Amino acid sequence: MVSSKFLAFASAAAAAASLALGSPVPLPAGFHLSVRDGTPYNASLPNVTIFATGGTIAGSASSSDQTTGYQAGALGVDILIAAVPQLWNVSNVRGVQVANVGSESITPAILLNLTQQIQAELDSPYCQGVVVTHGTDTLEESAFFLDLTVRSEKPVVVVGAMRPATAISADGPINLLEAVTLAADPGARGRGAMIVLNDRVAGAFYTTKSNANSLDTFRSAEQGFLGFFINIKPKFYFAPSLPLGRPYFDVTGATSLPEVDILFGHQALNPALASAAVASGAKGLVLAGMGAGGWTDAGSEAIEAVIENNGTAVVYSRRSMDGYVEPTGSVGYGGGFLNPQKARIMLQLALYAGYETAQMKTIFEFDS
Ligand SMILES: *[C@@H]1O[C@H](CO)[C@@H](O)[C@H](O)[C@H]1NC(C)=O
Ligand SMILES: *[C@@H]1O[C@H](CO)[C@@H](O)[C@H](O)[C@H]1NC(C)=O
Ligand SMILES: *[C@@H]1O[C@H](CO)[C@@H](O)[C@H](O)[C@H]1NC(C)=O
Ligand SMILES: *[C@@H]1O[C@H](CO)[C@@H](O)[C@H](O)[C@H]1NC(C)=O
Ligand SMILES: *[C@@H]1O[C@H](CO)[C@@H](O)[C@H](O)[C@H]1NC(C)=O
Repeated sequence: MVSSKFLAFASAAAAAASLALGSPVPLPAGFHLSVRDGTPYNASLPNVTIFATGGTIAGSASSSDQTTGYQAGALGVDILIAAVPQLWNVSNVRGVQVANVGSESITPAILLNLTQQIQAELDSPYCQGVVVTHGTDTLEESAFFLDLTVRSEKPVVVVGAMRPATAISADGPINLLEAVTLAADPGARGRGAMIVLNDRVAGAFYTTKSNANSLDTFRSAEQGFLGFFINIKPKFYFAPSLPLGRPYFDVTGATSLPEVDILFGHQALNPALASAAVASGAKGLVLAGMGAGGWTDAGSEAIEAVIENNGTAVVYSRRSMDGYVEPTGSVGYGGGFLNPQKARIMLQLALYAGYETAQMKTIFEFDS
């Protein structure tokens, strides 16, 4: 059974598709906007570009009560925009389809293409902010990547949904409206990349997905949120600021990144996985260590061997939800406050940039 909500999306999409044929613009009742390049346009409003990558926010299930096991990335960006006519009261929006996949399938190539397109867009004086729609499972990795690779004061807002577009009480439409409202808000400038779900504004640097199923999944327990939405309008708790030690990496023209693998720490872990990862192409390893980066004796010997023999860069992180990891010995780097998946993104970028030991230390072991 296909829900009526999905049918509404589909008919809006069909109307949007007919634009190319010169048909009337599918604006909701009460709007009298002029049309530019085939889309409605209000000269009094800012311009926000929406880059769509797929995920649950673009997901479609066979019934309105299905909230797992659906197809992520089924709906195109035009359908997402058409489903939220309130957007046109906030901003002029333009959709760019970068990918349409579940977020487990986001690759370095997609991330590089995305950040290069965003940089070009934000470099234009005619764009005030961007929104990225993304699956939530690896959303924190892409948001962190954009935080480190986009150089602009303008807002970069990454948004997802925990329920597919076809679900009863789908959260995608309000999340998208809040994300565009945030991207269009001058008060959102200078805060780095941000994540919007469940009425919260979160900083991309520290925020992580904490629950596989619930709507209030994005959290940073120690560092907290940047703000909250009241009647869809962002209210900030603090003036704009950026995390200490946050570096910038220029990836202009890059088409790939060095491979970095994550090894998970546990009792009786298999020491052979370190050299196996290196043999299959890893230039760096991140260890999700026990406690503050702890690793077994046999495992540590294997880690020291790949550092010494193969020049592998190793970052010690932690499998615990939160904490700070200092270097455990004379080799490798402590991951500081970064969780393993964020330390991996940071290490990929640092290896790409050709960082030497001293620079590596400044990004992972920064002092406040
Ligand atoms: C354009 O946006 C302004 C500011 O929000 C609003 O006052 C005006 O009514 C809008 N114009 C149209 C034609 O919708
Ligand atoms: C847009 O704003 C106008 C004026 O506040 C309001 O009457 C209208 O209902 C809004 N449209 C949508 C779709 O929210
Ligand atoms: C991103 O990928 C699209 C589609 O393949 C391509 O048209 C575009 O030129 C790419 N942009 C950048 C900046 O690499
Ligand atoms: C929005 O984009 C249009 C071009 O489509 C441009 O003419 C206009 O100046 C832009 N508005 C702002 C506030 O930058
Ligand atoms: C890593 O170093 C070992 C010991 O020197 C060597 O046998 C192995 O081929 C190296 N692996 C790679 C991928 O270079």
